[in-house]
Amino acid sequence: MIMRICSLGCIILSLASWRSVQGSRSEEDTFIGWQGEQYAAFHTSTASDEVIGEGSLFSLNETARPAWIQTISYKPRAMVYHNFLSDRECRHIIDLAHAQMKRSTVVGSKNAGVVDDIRTSYGTFLRRHQDPVIAAIEHRLALWSHLPASHQEDMQVLRYGPTNKYGPHIDGLERVATVLIYLVEPDYGGETAFTESVWSHPELQGQAERANLSQCARGRVAYKPKRGDALMFFDTMPDYKQTDVHSMHTGCPVVEGVKWNAVKWLHGTPFRGDEYERALKEPFKPLPDPGICANLHEMCETWALQGECKNNPGFMIGAGASMGSCRLACNDCERCAEGDMDCYRRNRDSGGFLNFDESELKGI
Ligand SMILES: *[C@@H]1O[C@H](CO)[C@@H](O)[C@H](O)[C@H]1NC(C)=O
Ligand SMILES: *[C@@H]1O[C@H](CO)[C@@H](O)[C@H](O)[C@H]1NC(C)=O
Repeated sequence: MIMRICSLGCIILSLASWRSVQGSRSEEDTFIGWQGEQYAAFHTSTASDEVIGEGSLFSLNETARPAWIQTISYKPRAMVYHNFLSDRECRHIIDLAHAQMKRSTVVGSKNAGVVDDIRTSYGTFLRRHQDPVIAAIEHRLALWSHLPASHQEDMQVLRYGPTNKYGPHIDGLERVATVLIYLVEPDYGGETAFTESVWSHPELQGQAERANLSQCARGRVAYKPKRGDALMFFDTMPDYKQTDVHSMHTGCPVVEGVKWNAVKWLHGTPFRGDEYERALKEPFKPLPDPGICANLHEMCETWALQGECKNNPGFMIGAGASMGSCRLACNDCERCAEGDMDCYRRNRDSGGFLNFDESELKGI
């Protein structure tokens, strides 16, 4: 009988009386909340180097923002890590990514990337361990997910403007979990909504009903993007094998403003393990800005004369997410005078790359 009503609370109580007998004052072995302690120090580098790792961009001021983890649903298993990133980390990711952001494609027939209406956004990938800040974020995610950093795919960075959305889908591709990290929150819409879901607690459901969610998110387990927060959900059942049909989700259309997020997919085994090992050793070589019209190979002019621009456009001009190696030789862009920003913008546009206005980042 005692065992049945005596759960964790009872253990803590008995521990408490044991402690008072022992008169323990040592700081390491007390529970948070034991004597009113707070989690405020969670993200400070002195208190928790392990959580942060080298290269982290939490400033002292930002540590005042509490980090906590909240389970929002068991169907699918989904949780939110509030303040997973600092503002500076959000900005850093955007700074690394934006020059290479290209209109997104989905996998079409014959595995060729095709632009279609389901996924209408700009995106690019950051290499794993690309720099110390990305490495620190990957380490933090490994601690949270209990899956090593080698199981993470490269970070995909995405930008959705008004009407851009990602229709309902299951992530699949042997992914066990998906992590969506919000970098810039839209003014309205852009929620991540689970179409076959149940809130973990009626109180959360009540909060969602009172919040002004967009039409697409109403009545569903949905998360309204907030800068720095991360939403993690499992794509598989607890056996890590069968797909969890409750993980069906949609990126609701952005109605007002712009949404930027970063996506991390997690696997049950190392993802391209050799590539990851190389990334740990080799410094990252940034690609040139596609606004600057250039040949990236000395043979470009020769190849162009041999008709390669027409015969091999993917390599020469660029297709899908990749940038062409000989855009100049193929007359696919304009040669710009140095610093001619309008000319760079035209080249970015014609190559399918993103131009954006700094103000949409809302001061980060
Ligand atoms: C931290 O906050 C103080 C007081 O608000 C401000 O003066 C200082 O500039 C801030 N430092 C940083 C690095 O943001
Ligand atoms: C919800 O927000 C939208 C966009 O800001 C606004 O147009 C609408 O009036 C709001 N609805 C309510 C009930 O507050």
